[in-house]
Amino acid sequence: MGKSGKKTKESHRQGRGRRASQFGDDDLPSSAYDAPPRRDEDSDGDDFNEGAAEDEHEGDTEAGDHQGQWQVGSMPSKFHLYQLSVQSPKGDISYLQKFFLMYVGGRVPLHLQEDFCGTALLSTEWLRTDARRTAVGLDFDRDSLEWCLENNMDKTGADGYSRLLLFDGNVLQPNESRLVKQKISELMQGLNVTNDNGSEETNGCEQSDSAVAKCLANSTMSDAILPGRDIICAFNYSCCCLHKRKDLVLYFRHALNALSKRGGIFVMDVYGGTSSECKLRLQRRFPNFTYFWEQEDFDIITRETRISLHFQVRKKQMLRHAFSYHWRLWSIPEIKDCLEEAGFKSIHVWMREMPDTQSSGNAKEYTADRDVKYEELKQFNQGDAWKAYVVGVANTR
Ligand SMILES: C[S@@+](CC[C@H](N)C(=O)[O-])C[C@H]1O[C@@H](n2cnc3c(N)ncnc32)[C@H](O)[C@@H]1O
Repeated sequence: MGKSGKKTKESHRQGRGRRASQFGDDDLPSSAYDAPPRRDEDSDGDDFNEGAAEDEHEGDTEAGDHQGQWQVGSMPSKFHLYQLSVQSPKGDISYLQKFFLMYVGGRVPLHLQEDFCGTALLSTEWLRTDARRTAVGLDFDRDSLEWCLENNMDKTGADGYSRLLLFDGNVLQPNESRLVKQKISELMQGLNVTNDNGSEETNGCEQSDSAVAKCLANSTMSDAILPGRDIICAFNYSCCCLHKRKDLVLYFRHALNALSKRGGIFVMDVYGGTSSECKLRLQRRFPNFTYFWEQEDFDIITRETRISLHFQVRKKQMLRHAFSYHWRLWSIPEIKDCLEEAGFKSIHVWMREMPDTQSSGNAKEYTADRDVKYEELKQFNQGDAWKAYVVGVANTR
């Protein structure tokens, strides 16, 4: 990172020496920019058909079950490839817990809301590691929510369905989002849904499975009795999907309202640096596939950019534009101002310097230094590439 100032460099050097053990975890958080540590799962599928004719896929592929993702001749689901290449929920959860302890404390955080959740991998990992935990996921992409229910629930334990509620809707109107239908018997175990009179909705429904299913499937987030959330997160630069300042403030207000009256935190991530404001192509190789991050030109008047994620499976099959995003790259001061305006009491910024994207070979292989951890900073000189967590703290109300 050639362009950072001396002071900042020194503090980074200190950071580099530290081991992740202070968080009790070796994983870095999720990021579409670099990649999570290799998982055992990556080495599945050795018998993948390397001799297949070159296939090009645009966008959607059929979502398959986990076990069948690497069958000979088939293209794994784009969601499966995304989770393997972009997400590292253990690392995210370590930081979420650390932030909660530092800025709220006094209790163990149990209730998570994952906004812009996609396949809600983070939520399912949250449930997996403590049976008392609950999670709410919100996204307007129905396919990814349903893929979660079909593919990510095996990790959560027998009662996982009753501790995770997924809602299909816009983060700008969360109360109108609709509960995604789950296996009814499992859902009935854990869900309390009220109607307008405050009585339990399930009592108002005819007691046939199909009628109950219809009732529950039509339930909105405002119908559901949800515990105040201890932590709400919006990861992998999802807030950049919102382009207007008034929308960002409105979204932050909704997040603040959903946090526990006993105090809670909202955490989002953002990336930047000089490399984020130009065309860029990075790639990262995994045992069975290669992941590409492609950044189009950056408009300095609107701060808008387009990002595409592509995957190449083994040597021949290319899944182009598996995911495409049109983002407004918010600056950290803009985010801080909007969080303040929304009513958050204090805001903290945690920075992590990224390897230089311009150094030779990075276009071919971009791998973040796993020893560089985030640290809370008040100043950070511009460099080639950085990532940040911005934490908004809601005090006891
Ligand atoms: C960059 S992906 C992030 C997915 C996941 N959070 C992660 O960490 O990888 C952004 C997600 O936000 C969703 N999204 C974008 N705008 C939204 C909105 N206004 N309301 C709800 N979901 C939205 C998209 O459907 C997509 O799943």
